Amino acid sequence: MFSKVLVTSALCAVAFASPFLPYSPGAAERPAEMKVLSDYFSMLGQKVQAGRQMSQAPVCNMANAVLPVASPTPLPGVSDGLKLKHVAIGRGIQNYTCSQTNATAPPVSIGAVATLFNASCVASTYPDLLTVLPNVALQFNLTSNDQPTLSPSYLTISGHHFFSNATTPAFDLNTPTLSLGFAPCMKNNTVPAPSGAPVGQGGQGHGSVAWLKLVTRDGATGNLEEVYRVNTAGGNPPATCAGMPAIFEVQYASE
Ligand SMILES: *[C@@H]1O[C@H](CO)[C@@H](O)[C@H](O)[C@H]1NC(C)=O
Ligand SMILES: *[C@@H]1O[C@H](CO)[C@@H](O)[C@H](O)[C@H]1NC(C)=O
Ligand SMILES: *[C@@H]1O[C@H](CO)[C@@H](O)[C@H](O)[C@H]1NC(C)=O
Ligand SMILES: *[C@@H]1O[C@H](CO)[C@@H](O)[C@H](O)[C@H]1NC(C)=O
Ligand SMILES: *[C@@H]1O[C@H](CO)[C@@H](O)[C@H](O)[C@H]1NC(C)=O
Ligand SMILES: *[C@@H]1O[C@H](CO)[C@@H](O)[C@H](O)[C@H]1NC(C)=O
Repeated sequence: MFSKVLVTSALCAVAFASPFLPYSPGAAERPAEMKVLSDYFSMLGQKVQAGRQMSQAPVCNMANAVLPVASPTPLPGVSDGLKLKHVAIGRGIQNYTCSQTNATAPPVSIGAVATLFNASCVASTYPDLLTVLPNVALQFNLTSNDQPTLSPSYLTISGHHFFSNATTPAFDLNTPTLSLGFAPCMKNNTVPAPSGAPVGQGGQGHGSVAWLKLVTRDGATGNLEEVYRVNTAGGNPPATCAGMPAIFEVQYASE
């Protein structure tokens, strides 16, 4: 999320808990999920190792965060004069309707609901970890929209994403601990997720939702102006409505 507010660098250690798999309801259990997770935890292990070698805690400087570029077609860049204000991992569902009379009709998107988790420090300190986090997070279902931390990381909740009406994706970044603003948005640009994007939860599914550039509309607070959805994992519906119910959800995550 980009805004005109200058964000001061915060000194902050990226604190991860010990690398064991939390087998709780919603935890990943299938082999494809285990592969995603073991890669993640091995990367995490290397970071812990690297962290130990550093004499000081890693510095969380948002200026080090880099917006991923989609290929072959990139999204339009960030508008001049804006500063990066926040990086979040969003975890939730895409919501679709399906014709019950036309099996060849495509599903129609009717919005999304997701919980946002604060990844600003990961973005500035461990960008490679950030890149894989959406697909890792996709392997764990939320237990509620107010889940305080993102499994299996310890990123803390920083807001909610929802549609305030059919054409208004909104981001509420106000929580008891952080008040970054409210951003009702409209779509500015969309490009397909790059080839090689995750196929979906458990390695099964229909691919990852498009990358987006959104711009805020009337009602935005906190000087928030632009929002990007990148590094998407899952969320696509099947190509047609054959065999699908009238309303259904597809699990997704994104940066
Ligand atoms: C997540 O929830 C979906 C229903 O939306 C279910 O089909 C899936 O098995 C669940 N996945 C995990 C990893 O719990
Ligand atoms: C949470 O987000 C804020 C705003 O982007 C940032 O200043 C802070 O460092 C973040 N905290 C963590 C732990 O990432
Ligand atoms: C999906 O959309 C339907 C129809 O608008 C709505 O009733 C339902 O609450 C939505 N699901 C979620 C999880 O928001
Ligand atoms: C069913 O959907 C397909 C794909 O959108 C469309 O081409 C076709 O005309 C539809 N058939 C009917 C009977 O509406
Ligand atoms: C949806 O909400 C936006 C922002 O509040 C508003 O500008 C727009 O007119 C609304 N659209 C409809 C169809 O109600
Ligand atoms: C996207 O934003 C650019 C820059 O503000 C603007 O020129 C363009 O018209 C917008 N496109 C759409 C489809 O909103």
